[in-house]
Amino acid sequence: MELKQQILKILEENRGDSISGAKMAKDLFVTRSAIWKNIKQLQNDGYIIEAVPNRGYCLKTSNDILTAESIRPYLTGKAKDFQLDVRKTVESTNTLAKEAAALGANEGRVIIASEQTKGRGRMGRSFYSPASTGLYMSLILRPKLDLNDSLLITTSAAVAVASAIEKLTGNLVQIKWVNDIFMNGKKVCGILTEASLNVENGGLEYAVVGIGINVTTNDFPDDIKAIAGSIFSKKPTDQPIKSILAAELLNNLSSSMDKLTDHSYLEEYKRRSFLIGKDIYVLKGKNAYEAIAVDIDHRARLVVEYPDKSREALSSGEVSVRQIP
Ligand code: BTN
Repeated sequence: MELKQQILKILEENRGDSISGAKMAKDLFVTRSAIWKNIKQLQNDGYIIEAVPNRGYCLKTSNDILTAESIRPYLTGKAKDFQLDVRKTVESTNTLAKEAAALGANEGRVIIASEQTKGRGRMGRSFYSPASTGLYMSLILRPKLDLNDSLLITTSAAVAVASAIEKLTGNLVQIKWVNDIFMNGKKVCGILTEASLNVENGGLEYAVVGIGINVTTNDFPDDIKAIAGSIFSKKPTDQPIKSILAAELLNNLSSSMDKLTDHSYLEEYKRRSFLIGKDIYVLKGKNAYEAIAVDIDHRARLVVEYPDKSREALSSGEVSVRQIP
C-alpha cells in the first residue's frame, strides 16, 4: 500500500480525532515531512483534514469521499473479509464485476463507484448514475444454487438493501417485486442480478448483484422524474453517509447470502412488498393482463390471480408488473 493510502487508513480509523504527525511517522517508518507532504496531497484530493496545533491531523467527520479505507471501519462479521475495489468513475460496476468473475475472482469481491457512465438496469434499460450523489456497487457471489433458484439471490438482496436504507434513514422502505426499492412512494434503488450458468452441472458459475442507490440526487432526467427519488433530500453533514451505507449493505448482504436456501428472509420480503393485495397489470411482451397480486411463493415468484380465478406464479425474466392506480 502506498504511503498516502496508509496515512488515509490511519486517519479513517481515527476519524474526528487528532493524531500526531510524529506518531504516524514513527508507526510508518517515515519522516514527519513525508507525512506532511502526503497530508497536503490528500487535502488536494478533496479530503478535509485539519492540522490542529500541538495535537496533529484530524480527518473531519463530514468527509464523504468513498474509498476502501472509509468503508472498512464500518464492516462487521464476514463482510470484513470482502475485497473492496473502490473507483471514482466506471462505465458499469456490474460489467467490471462480471469480467472479474469470468477471470476467476472470488466470492466477496466488491466493485464500488461514485459515478457510472453506462450504468445498466433490468430489461436492457440504462440506470441513471450521476457523480457523487449516488452509490453504485456490485458484489460477486458463487452460490451453490441452480438456475431455477436464482430469483432467491435478487430478492434476498432486496431485503438486505431495504433494511440498510431503513436503518440509516428511519423511514419505511418497501419492495416492488421483484427488486425495486421504494421510499416515500419513490423508487430510490434498483438491483440488477446477472449470473453465468455452469453448463456441466446446470448450477450457477457466479452471480453478480448490482445495487444502485440514489443517495442525495435531486435532479433526475425527465423520463424518470415522476418515479425516482433519493433516500436523503440533502447530505447529512455530520457523517460519511455513503461509506456507512456501503458498509451496511455489505454487512446485510453477507449474512443474507448465507441463508438463501432456508427461505427465511421471504417473510420479511413479503412484509415489505407493496404489491400484495393490489390490482396490477402483468406485462408480457406487448400485452398487459389485469390481475391481483396475491402472494410470493417459496421460490420468490409473484403469484397472481386473473379475473377468471386462475393463478400463475411469475418469474422475473419473462414479465414485469405495474400497479393499477
Ligand atoms: C434497475 O432498476 O433496473 C436495476 C438497476 C441496477 C443498477 C446497478 S448500479 C450498480 C450496478 N451496475 C450497473 O450497471 N447496474 C447495477
